[in-house]
Amino acid sequence: MVVETARRDHEEVAAEAAPAPVMTAPSPAPADAAAPASQTRSDPGAGLPQPQKPTPRRFRDLLALDDFERHAKRHLPRMVFGYVSGAVETGASLRAARDAFAEHRFLPRMFVDVSGRDQSVQLFGKHYASPFGIAPLGGAAFIAYRADLQLATAARDAQIPMILSGSSLISLEDVHAANPDAWFQAYLAGDQPRIDRLVDRVAAAGYETLVVTGDTPLLGNREHNIRSGFSMPIKMTPNVMLQSALAPGWLLGTVFRTYWKHGAPHFENTDAERGPPMMSKLVRNTKKRDELAWSHVEAIRRNWKGNLVVKGIMTASDARIAKECGVDGVILSNHGGRQLDHAVAPLDCLAEVAAEKGAMKVMIDSGLRRGTDVLKAVALGADFVFLGRPFLYAAAIGGADGVSHAVGILRAEIDRDLALVGVKRPQDLDASYLAPAARTRD
Ligand SMILES: Cc1cc2nc3c(=O)[nH]c(=O)nc-3n(C[C@H](O)[C@H](O)[C@H](O)COP(=O)(O)O)c2cc1C
Repeated sequence: MVVETARRDHEEVAAEAAPAPVMTAPSPAPADAAAPASQTRSDPGAGLPQPQKPTPRRFRDLLALDDFERHAKRHLPRMVFGYVSGAVETGASLRAARDAFAEHRFLPRMFVDVSGRDQSVQLFGKHYASPFGIAPLGGAAFIAYRADLQLATAARDAQIPMILSGSSLISLEDVHAANPDAWFQAYLAGDQPRIDRLVDRVAAAGYETLVVTGDTPLLGNREHNIRSGFSMPIKMTPNVMLQSALAPGWLLGTVFRTYWKHGAPHFENTDAERGPPMMSKLVRNTKKRDELAWSHVEAIRRNWKGNLVVKGIMTASDARIAKECGVDGVILSNHGGRQLDHAVAPLDCLAEVAAEKGAMKVMIDSGLRRGTDVLKAVALGADFVFLGRPFLYAAAIGGADGVSHAVGILRAEIDRDLALVGVKRPQDLDASYLAPAARTRD
């Protein structure tokens, strides 16, 4: 039963309990390091939303996005941490996505006036303070208390986009109320009337950007969930109870607090109607997802007046079809290594897809962790990037303040890296700023 449900279900579960902390600023760097993050960010030339409060003590050793993973691992039950961190089968897609960034090295330019740096970008007619946003994260509110709202408010305050997952546990209307600039991502079945009703709901709520994920006709083979005891619904085995008891912060601060204040979490946004409770034996209606086709995307395009984005694109030929369907943007993604194993690294397809983009925006996620990753993606043709896991870990250990802290770290890295590469804006980068790692080793 556990095996069946784990295989059947989607990006749902997770959990955490995070006392709501207070802060926004990046952590100080060691005394002998170059400019501390907070110093870099307060460069008046950066023109960024500035931190209001000093970095709380408990965030002070969170200096890079990978640090959030280490902290979250201590905070979450093993099965819940595994749900977030895990990948499918051999983990080849996960590794490939990350490793692809190491294949490129910078060719920095010297004696360039890089004062007045500006990392803001225009995307779909909106001004965003940084070239990155928060990827859709299903089941986030099982990892961190009311995570979707924490992510949404942190994104609003930081002036970056946040994409609400269709497998989320907070209603899309509530998230839009918290952040009217949030985007909505849908997992769709190949059932046009059902699609139309959901799209009408998303439009009525006021969303302006709809993301349709294409890489999930069914769930990838996440053996790690079965091994750790993670299933949907969670089966209360001795193993699961022991793991939960060993993570009291999560158990009390996310699970009990959620049930106490809001009742049983439901899959709120799978369809036009509210879905079943997360813990119920009723399985969400994921039928017919394997029937979703480009014809449905064309039909959505006719019905949906806002920006339409397709996520999970990996080839130039699919980008061409998306363009012919009238799609406004594509997100290159291998789903963070969570769907097809041995899938190509999104970064490796980026230049080819960007060459096909026409008026579309090309975005990318999977494996980005550093400001240098963001700049490499932009240099290879990305208009924008998204990150998933680091922001969920940040919500788990620090709520909205934790997410703001993570945003601040990445933003400070980008600002510093722009200066060191020798450009004032991400848009000034192109492939001439990169060399293949192999060449630099010659
Ligand atoms: C816990 C978790 C849940 C996710 N849920 C969704 C989802 O509901 N919809 C979706 O399109 N992608 C989902 N993804 C994939 C992310 O949107 C994104 O593609 C991926 O996390 C990017 O890789 P990164 O985590 O290395 O940054 C999920 C990823 C994680 C880690």
